[in-house]
Amino acid sequence: SQLPELRRSLLNWYAEAGRDLPWRRTRDPYAIWVSEIMLQQTQVKTVIPYFERWLEQFPTIASLADAEQQQVLKAWQGLGYYARARNLHRAAQLIVQDYGGTFPTDFETVIELPGIGRTTAGGILSAAYNQPVAILDGNVKRVLARMIALEVPPKRAIGLLWQVSTTLLDPIHSRDFNQALMDLGATLCTPKNPACLLCPWQTHCRANQLNMQSELPISENR
Ligand code: ADE
Repeated sequence: SQLPELRRSLLNWYAEAGRDLPWRRTRDPYAIWVSEIMLQQTQVKTVIPYFERWLEQFPTIASLADAEQQQVLKAWQGLGYYARARNLHRAAQLIVQDYGGTFPTDFETVIELPGIGRTTAGGILSAAYNQPVAILDGNVKRVLARMIALEVPPKRAIGLLWQVSTTLLDPIHSRDFNQALMDLGATLCTPKNPACLLCPWQTHCRANQLNMQSELPISENR
C-alpha cells in the first residue's frame, strides 16, 4: 500500500509550504469553530480580519451566547449569508445550556449543532483535538477527484469521495493532514492551471498520469 508514502509526502510539503493562518495558531475549539463557519462561504483573505475582531468582541462561547443578536449580526456585517451568524449564536446558547459552555468533543454531538455539517465537524474536531475525522469541502473534492481521475461529477460520487478522504487521513497527524489537504486544494490543485510540478502527490495522481488535470473534475452542467 502507498498510504504511508502519500501521508508522508503531503505532511512534508505542508511543513515547508503550508500557510500560516491565525486559526492554525490556536487549539481553542471555539475559535476554530468560528473560523470554519466563516470559511464555509468566504475567502481566507476576507475572513482573517473578521476572525480576529470576532474573538476580541466575543472571546468565549459564553460571551457570544450572552450577546444581543443585533451585536452578533453587526460583527458579521460584510461576510454575507447571515444564517451562519444566527446559527453560531444559537449554537453558543445551546452549548451553554446543555454542555456548560464547553465545546463538545464527540462527532455525534458536534454535528447536531446548528450550522455544522459533516465537513465542518471534521474540520473542527481534527484541528482542535487532532481527532481522525475526515473532511470533504469544495477544494478537497477537487483534489481527490483528480487523484482518482473520477469519471463523474463529484456530486454523483460523494460517498466514494468521503471514503477516499477517510482512507487517506493520517490517523496520527490528523490535524496537519486535513489542513494540508485544504492548502493543496487552495494553492496548487486549483480549478485552473493546477501547479502539478510542485505537487507532493504528482506521481500518485491519476489525473496527472493521464494528463487530464485540466479536464477534471468533470463539471455538473454539461
Ligand atoms: N477552509 C475551510 N477550513 C479551512 C482552514 N482551516 N484553513 C484554510 N481554509 C479553510
